[in-house]
Amino acid sequence: MSGRALSFGVVAEAYERFRPEYPVELFDMVMAYAGHPVRTALEIGAGTGKATRLFARRGVMVTATDPDGAMLAELRKHVPRGVRTVRAAFEDLRPGERYGLVYAAAALHWTNPRGRWSRVAALLEPGGVFASCGGPCQLADPAVEEAVRAARAPFLESDEIPSPDGTPPDQEMQWPGTELRQSEWFTDVQQAVIERRVTMSARDYVGSSLHRLGLSRPADRGASAGVQPDHAGTAGPSRDGSRHHRPPRASAPRRLITTPTRSAGR
Ligand SMILES: C[S@@+](CC[C@H](N)C(=O)[O-])C[C@H]1O[C@@H](n2cnc3c(N)ncnc32)[C@H](O)[C@@H]1O
Repeated sequence: MSGRALSFGVVAEAYERFRPEYPVELFDMVMAYAGHPVRTALEIGAGTGKATRLFARRGVMVTATDPDGAMLAELRKHVPRGVRTVRAAFEDLRPGERYGLVYAAAALHWTNPRGRWSRVAALLEPGGVFASCGGPCQLADPAVEEAVRAARAPFLESDEIPSPDGTPPDQEMQWPGTELRQSEWFTDVQQAVIERRVTMSARDYVGSSLHRLGLSRPADRGASAGVQPDHAGTAGPSRDGSRHHRPPRASAPRRLITTPTRSAGR
Protein backbone atom coordinates (compact mmCIF):
# COMPACT_ATOMS: atom_id res chain seq x y z
CA MET A 1 0.00 0.00 0.00
CA SER A 2 1.38 3.42 -0.92
CA GLY A 3 2.33 6.01 1.70
CA ARG A 4 -0.30 8.27 0.13
CA ALA A 5 -2.99 5.67 0.86
CA LEU A 6 -2.14 5.97 4.54
CA SER A 7 -1.85 9.75 4.54
CA PHE A 8 -5.39 10.46 5.74
CA GLY A 9 -4.88 9.66 9.42
CA VAL A 10 -2.64 12.65 10.13
CA VAL A 11 -5.53 14.92 9.19
CA ALA A 12 -8.33 12.72 10.55
CA GLU A 13 -9.98 15.45 12.63
CA ALA A 14 -9.85 18.01 9.82
CA TYR A 15 -11.09 15.37 7.39
CA GLU A 16 -14.09 14.74 9.61
CA ARG A 17 -14.75 18.44 10.07
CA PHE A 18 -14.62 19.47 6.43
CA ARG A 19 -15.88 16.50 4.47
CA PRO A 20 -19.58 16.82 3.64
CA GLU A 21 -21.99 14.15 4.81
CA TYR A 22 -23.52 11.73 2.35
CA PRO A 23 -27.19 12.37 1.56
CA VAL A 24 -30.00 10.13 2.74
CA GLU A 25 -30.98 9.63 -0.92
CA LEU A 26 -27.90 7.46 -1.25
CA PHE A 27 -29.17 5.12 1.45
CA ASP A 28 -32.63 5.03 -0.14
CA MET A 29 -31.17 4.30 -3.55
CA VAL A 30 -29.06 1.38 -2.34
CA MET A 31 -31.97 -0.09 -0.40
CA ALA A 32 -34.31 0.24 -3.38
CA TYR A 33 -31.74 -1.48 -5.56
CA ALA A 34 -31.30 -4.33 -3.06
CA GLY A 35 -35.07 -4.84 -3.14
CA HIS A 36 -35.11 -6.47 0.30
CA PRO A 37 -34.12 -5.38 3.81
CA VAL A 38 -30.36 -5.27 4.26
CA ARG A 39 -29.30 -6.33 7.76
CA THR A 40 -25.54 -6.39 7.56
CA ALA A 41 -22.91 -4.46 5.65
CA LEU A 42 -19.16 -4.37 5.27
CA GLU A 43 -17.64 -1.02 4.43
CA ILE A 44 -14.31 -0.75 2.62
CA GLY A 45 -12.13 2.27 3.52
CA ALA A 46 -14.59 3.73 6.03
CA GLY A 47 -12.31 6.62 7.03
CA THR A 48 -13.94 8.75 9.72
CA GLY A 49 -17.30 7.10 9.10
CA LYS A 50 -19.13 9.61 6.91
CA ALA A 51 -20.88 6.81 5.04
CA THR A 52 -20.82 4.42 8.00
CA ARG A 53 -23.25 6.58 9.95
CA LEU A 54 -25.59 6.88 6.96
CA PHE A 55 -26.20 3.12 7.04
CA ALA A 56 -25.67 2.42 10.76
CA ARG A 57 -28.18 5.05 11.87
CA ARG A 58 -30.81 3.41 9.72
CA GLY A 59 -30.59 0.00 11.27
CA VAL A 60 -27.87 -1.71 9.22
CA MET A 61 -25.21 -3.51 11.27
CA VAL A 62 -22.04 -2.12 9.73
CA THR A 63 -18.54 -3.54 9.95
CA ALA A 64 -16.33 -0.57 9.12
CA THR A 65 -12.87 -1.44 7.82
CA ASP A 66 -9.90 0.80 7.12
CA PRO A 67 -6.12 0.30 7.25
CA ASP A 68 -5.59 3.62 9.03
CA GLY A 69 -5.93 3.42 12.80
CA ALA A 70 -6.19 7.19 13.24
CA MET A 71 -9.14 7.36 10.84
CA LEU A 72 -10.89 4.55 12.72
CA ALA A 73 -10.24 6.29 16.06
CA GLU A 74 -12.00 9.38 14.69
CA LEU A 75 -14.80 7.23 13.25
CA ARG A 76 -15.61 5.77 16.67
CA LYS A 77 -16.50 9.24 17.92
CA HIS A 78 -19.25 9.63 15.34
CA VAL A 79 -20.94 6.30 14.75
CA PRO A 80 -23.47 4.31 16.78
CA ARG A 81 -21.99 1.92 19.33
CA GLY A 82 -23.04 -1.16 17.44
CA VAL A 83 -20.64 -0.43 14.58
CA ARG A 84 -17.78 -2.93 14.50
CA THR A 85 -14.40 -1.65 13.36
CA VAL A 86 -11.65 -3.70 11.75
CA ARG A 87 -8.27 -2.20 10.99
CA ALA A 88 -7.43 -3.74 7.65
CA ALA A 89 -6.88 -2.88 4.03
CA PHE A 90 -9.39 -4.40 1.66
CA GLU A 91 -6.68 -6.71 0.31
CA ASP A 92 -6.12 -8.13 3.80
CA LEU A 93 -9.75 -8.95 4.57
CA ARG A 94 -10.17 -12.69 4.81
CA PRO A 95 -13.35 -14.28 3.51
CA GLY A 96 -15.42 -15.81 6.28
CA GLU A 97 -18.38 -13.78 7.37
CA ARG A 98 -20.69 -12.71 4.53
CA TYR A 99 -22.78 -9.57 4.30
CA GLY A 100 -25.97 -8.39 2.64
CA LEU A 101 -24.15 -5.31 1.38
CA VAL A 102 -20.52 -4.47 0.67
CA TYR A 103 -19.86 -0.83 -0.07
CA ALA A 104 -17.14 1.76 -0.48
CA ALA A 105 -17.43 5.54 -0.34
CA ALA A 106 -14.63 7.40 -2.09
CA ALA A 107 -12.32 4.53 -1.22
CA LEU A 108 -12.46 1.84 -3.89
CA HIS A 109 -9.82 3.49 -6.06
CA TRP A 110 -7.31 2.98 -3.24
CA THR A 111 -7.67 -0.78 -3.42
CA ASN A 112 -5.59 -3.13 -5.51
CA PRO A 113 -7.44 -3.97 -8.73
CA ARG A 114 -6.04 -7.48 -8.85
CA GLY A 115 -8.73 -9.88 -7.67
CA ARG A 116 -10.92 -7.00 -6.54
CA TRP A 117 -14.25 -8.37 -7.73
CA SER A 118 -13.82 -11.99 -6.74
CA ARG A 119 -12.81 -10.70 -3.30
CA VAL A 120 -15.95 -8.54 -3.02
CA ALA A 121 -18.14 -11.40 -4.25
CA ALA A 122 -16.65 -13.70 -1.59
CA LEU A 123 -17.77 -11.24 1.10
CA LEU A 124 -21.39 -11.19 -0.09
CA GLU A 125 -24.30 -13.39 0.88
CA PRO A 126 -26.13 -14.99 -2.03
CA GLY A 127 -28.25 -12.19 -3.53
CA GLY A 128 -26.16 -9.56 -1.74
CA VAL A 129 -25.33 -6.24 -3.37
CA PHE A 130 -22.28 -4.08 -3.83
CA ALA A 131 -22.33 -0.28 -3.94
CA SER A 132 -19.63 2.28 -4.58
CA CYS A 133 -19.99 6.02 -4.44
CA GLY A 134 -17.81 9.05 -4.78
CA GLY A 135 -18.30 12.75 -4.19
CA PRO A 136 -16.87 14.78 -7.03
CA CYS A 137 -17.25 18.47 -6.37
CA GLN A 138 -17.51 21.18 -9.00
CA LEU A 139 -17.45 24.85 -8.20
CA ALA A 140 -20.63 26.57 -9.31
CA ASP A 141 -19.23 30.09 -9.53
CA PRO A 142 -16.79 30.80 -12.40
CA ALA A 143 -15.07 33.58 -10.42
CA VAL A 144 -14.37 31.23 -7.53
CA GLU A 145 -13.23 28.57 -9.96
CA GLU A 146 -10.73 30.97 -11.51
CA ALA A 147 -9.45 32.11 -8.09
CA VAL A 148 -8.91 28.49 -7.08
CA ARG A 149 -7.18 27.67 -10.36
CA ALA A 150 -4.82 30.63 -9.96
CA ALA A 151 -4.02 29.72 -6.34
CA ARG A 152 -3.36 26.09 -7.29
CA ALA A 153 -1.38 26.76 -10.47
CA PRO A 154 2.11 27.16 -8.92
CA PHE A 155 1.73 23.78 -7.24
CA LEU A 156 -0.60 21.65 -9.28
CA GLU A 157 -1.99 21.88 -12.80
CA SER A 158 -5.26 20.19 -11.95
CA ASP A 159 -6.85 18.44 -9.00
CA GLU A 160 -8.98 16.21 -11.23
CA ILE A 161 -8.60 12.57 -10.33
CA PRO A 162 -8.26 10.53 -13.52
CA SER A 163 -10.49 7.49 -13.89
CA PRO A 164 -8.66 4.42 -12.52
CA ASP A 165 -9.29 2.50 -15.74
CA GLY A 166 -8.94 5.42 -18.13
CA THR A 167 -12.66 5.75 -18.90
CA PRO A 168 -13.19 9.12 -20.61
CA PRO A 169 -15.31 11.54 -18.53
CA ASP A 170 -17.97 11.82 -21.25
CA GLN A 171 -18.67 8.08 -21.36
CA GLU A 172 -22.08 7.14 -20.00
CA MET A 173 -20.92 4.36 -17.69
CA GLN A 174 -18.06 5.41 -15.46
CA TRP A 175 -15.61 3.42 -13.35
CA PRO A 176 -16.18 1.22 -11.41
CA GLY A 177 -19.30 0.37 -13.40
CA THR A 178 -17.10 -0.19 -16.46
CA GLU A 179 -15.04 -2.77 -14.61
CA LEU A 180 -18.06 -4.39 -13.01
CA ARG A 181 -19.75 -4.83 -16.36
CA GLN A 182 -16.83 -6.91 -17.48
CA SER A 183 -16.64 -8.87 -14.29
CA GLU A 184 -18.00 -12.41 -14.29
CA TRP A 185 -18.99 -12.02 -10.64
CA PHE A 186 -21.65 -9.34 -10.96
CA THR A 187 -24.75 -8.62 -12.92
CA ASP A 188 -27.36 -5.84 -13.31
CA VAL A 189 -24.84 -3.00 -13.02
CA GLN A 190 -26.51 0.36 -12.51
CA GLN A 191 -25.21 3.87 -12.13
CA ALA A 192 -26.93 6.98 -10.84
CA VAL A 193 -26.08 10.55 -9.99
CA ILE A 194 -27.48 12.38 -6.98
CA GLU A 195 -26.90 16.03 -7.65
CA ARG A 196 -26.95 18.52 -4.81
CA ARG A 197 -25.80 22.03 -4.13
CA VAL A 198 -23.71 22.60 -1.06
CA THR A 199 -22.93 26.09 0.15
CA MET A 200 -19.91 26.45 2.39
CA SER A 201 -17.81 29.25 3.78
CA ALA A 202 -14.48 30.08 2.16
CA ARG A 203 -12.72 28.79 5.27
CA ASP A 204 -14.51 25.46 5.02
CA TYR A 205 -13.82 25.29 1.30
CA VAL A 206 -10.10 25.79 1.92
CA GLY A 207 -10.21 23.18 4.66
CA SER A 208 -11.94 20.65 2.42
CA SER A 209 -9.51 21.37 -0.43
CA LEU A 210 -6.52 20.79 1.81
CA HIS A 211 -7.69 17.40 2.89
CA ARG A 212 -8.59 16.48 -0.70
CA LEU A 213 -5.11 17.40 -1.83
CA GLY A 214 -3.66 15.40 1.04
CA LEU A 215 -2.00 18.40 2.63
CA SER A 216 -1.44 17.82 6.29
CA ARG A 217 -1.50 21.41 7.47
CA PRO A 218 -4.64 22.32 9.38
CA ALA A 219 -7.08 24.58 7.60
CA ASP A 220 -6.41 27.59 9.77
CA ARG A 221 -2.84 27.57 8.47
CA GLY A 222 -4.00 27.04 4.92
CA ALA A 223 -1.32 29.17 3.29
CA SER A 224 0.34 25.96 2.12
CA ALA A 225 -2.13 25.82 -0.74
CA GLY A 226 -1.24 29.32 -1.74
CA VAL A 227 -4.44 30.86 -0.45
CA GLN A 228 -5.22 32.78 2.69
CA PRO A 229 -8.36 31.52 4.39
CA ASP A 230 -8.54 34.75 6.35
CA HIS A 231 -9.12 36.46 3.04
CA ALA A 232 -12.47 34.89 2.87
CA GLY A 233 -13.14 35.83 -0.72
CA THR A 234 -10.30 33.69 -1.97
CA ALA A 235 -12.61 30.78 -2.40
CA GLY A 236 -15.76 32.82 -2.39
CA PRO A 237 -17.67 34.32 -5.25
CA SER A 238 -16.08 37.76 -5.25
CA ARG A 239 -14.91 39.03 -8.60
CA ASP A 240 -11.25 39.64 -7.71
CA GLY A 241 -11.16 36.41 -5.76
CA SER A 242 -8.78 37.50 -3.04
CA ARG A 243 -9.58 40.61 -1.09
CA HIS A 244 -13.12 40.52 0.16
CA HIS A 245 -13.88 40.03 3.83
CA ARG A 246 -17.63 39.81 3.57
CA PRO A 247 -19.20 36.48 4.51
CA PRO A 248 -17.76 34.01 2.07
CA ARG A 249 -19.73 31.43 0.18
CA ALA A 250 -18.36 28.79 -2.08
CA SER A 251 -21.28 27.08 -3.68
CA ALA A 252 -20.74 23.75 -5.26
CA PRO A 253 -23.04 21.22 -6.85
CA ARG A 254 -22.10 17.93 -5.32
CA ARG A 255 -22.50 14.88 -7.42
CA LEU A 256 -22.48 11.39 -6.18
CA ILE A 257 -22.06 8.56 -8.54
CA THR A 258 -23.32 5.36 -7.11
CA THR A 259 -22.97 2.01 -8.66
CA PRO A 260 -25.02 -0.48 -6.71
CA THR A 261 -24.34 -3.84 -8.14
CA ARG A 262 -26.05 -7.13 -7.68
CA SER A 263 -23.90 -10.12 -7.00
CA ALA A 264 -24.32 -12.89 -9.52
CA GLY A 265 -24.66 -15.17 -6.51
CA ARG A 266 -21.51 -17.20 -6.88
C1 LIG B 1 -10.97 9.44 0.68
S1 LIG B 1 -11.01 8.48 2.13
C2 LIG B 1 -12.73 8.05 2.21
C3 LIG B 1 -13.20 7.82 3.61
C4 LIG B 1 -14.70 7.65 3.78
N1 LIG B 1 -15.18 6.45 3.14
C5 LIG B 1 -15.49 8.86 3.28
O1 LIG B 1 -16.27 8.72 2.33
O2 LIG B 1 -15.32 9.94 3.85
C6 LIG B 1 -10.23 6.98 1.61
C7 LIG B 1 -10.04 5.96 2.74
O3 LIG B 1 -9.54 4.75 2.14
C8 LIG B 1 -8.61 4.18 3.02
N2 LIG B 1 -7.76 3.25 2.25
C9 LIG B 1 -6.58 3.51 1.63
N3 LIG B 1 -6.10 2.39 1.06
C10 LIG B 1 -7.01 1.39 1.32
C11 LIG B 1 -7.07 0.00 1.03
N4 LIG B 1 -6.12 -0.61 0.33
N5 LIG B 1 -8.13 -0.71 1.47
C12 LIG B 1 -9.13 -0.09 2.16
N6 LIG B 1 -9.12 1.23 2.48
C13 LIG B 1 -8.07 1.96 2.07
C14 LIG B 1 -7.89 5.37 3.65
O4 LIG B 1 -7.27 5.03 4.86
C15 LIG B 1 -9.02 6.37 3.80
O5 LIG B 1 -9.62 6.30 5.08
